[in-house]
Amino acid sequence: MSKVTLTEIPQIEPGIRRGRNVHEGYVRACNLQFDNLLTRLRADSLYMRCLELAQGRTLVTEEKLPNLYLLLRYYLPSIGIGNIVEFGTYRGGSALFLAALAQELLPDCRVFGFDSFAGMPSTEREIDLHQAGDFRDADLLELTGFPASAGLQNIEFVPGLFENSFPDAAARIGKIALCHVDCDIRSAVAYYDASKRHMLPGGYWVFDDPLVASCTGAMEAVRSSSSSAMGCSRNRLIHTWSSGQDSLQKASLLWLLAWATSLPRCGPRGPGVSRPLRFIVDSLRK
Ligand SMILES: C[S@@+](CC[C@H](N)C(=O)[O-])C[C@H]1O[C@@H](n2cnc3c(N)ncnc32)[C@H](O)[C@@H]1O
Repeated sequence: MSKVTLTEIPQIEPGIRRGRNVHEGYVRACNLQFDNLLTRLRADSLYMRCLELAQGRTLVTEEKLPNLYLLLRYYLPSIGIGNIVEFGTYRGGSALFLAALAQELLPDCRVFGFDSFAGMPSTEREIDLHQAGDFRDADLLELTGFPASAGLQNIEFVPGLFENSFPDAAARIGKIALCHVDCDIRSAVAYYDASKRHMLPGGYWVFDDPLVASCTGAMEAVRSSSSSAMGCSRNRLIHTWSSGQDSLQKASLLWLLAWATSLPRCGPRGPGVSRPLRFIVDSLRK
């Protein structure tokens, strides 16, 4: 199976700094921003197959899906066995993308997609642009039948408001390796907090929304949670944290922000070196 190689970042020492895996974050983010990863992924048959499943079903942009891909391909295999939880599944696009990847790369991992599947709950007018009922066109019946037709056996959709559905489901889900938070509004994004005590050491949270123009409530939720450790810029899109959630690391630039940390048992590993990163250094100087 063809797969992309990632350019190493030798300037950053591997290892854990105050609970953070700084090196990992730089590798993902700089490859995405400076080394044309999106184009190179076109030659990765697994990525393309998973992307096809998501296309037409997902609101997650194609700049963000590679971050999830890199986590499943190169980093989740290092942290032990855990499942994937998504808060905000809608028509299933990103959840199916994750499930297709996991079926290939993480055979013991299941994906659980949480959503009302009936649209947004009530929102806060002072902070959320989205309103109750947005995204109500999800079709849970159609979605439930789809994975089998796509050959996926590792995905489950859990309907209901998170606060009603997650507590019971969490008991059977067990340890979580990745939590994808894509639910746009302050109260829902803040609910990710409930996943903390189920997180595998070194597991990751990916926040899709905080820097999306229509999701300031998501930014507020994330900032409240991480407060002093968080610094943000409006033109950056993705946040990736790990279970050292109080210690975040700024790890990428411009349109992509990968907040990457990792507990020591993750270790300082990553994909192999493909070539020097002179061009990144040059870009950073501009
Ligand atoms: C942007 S959509 C998710 C997009 C999806 N990840 C994709 O791939 O396109 C946000 C979803 O969050 C759901 N949502 C927001 N707050 C929720 C809550 N408290 N409980 C359940 N679902 C919620 C909405 O119903 C909506 O379907």
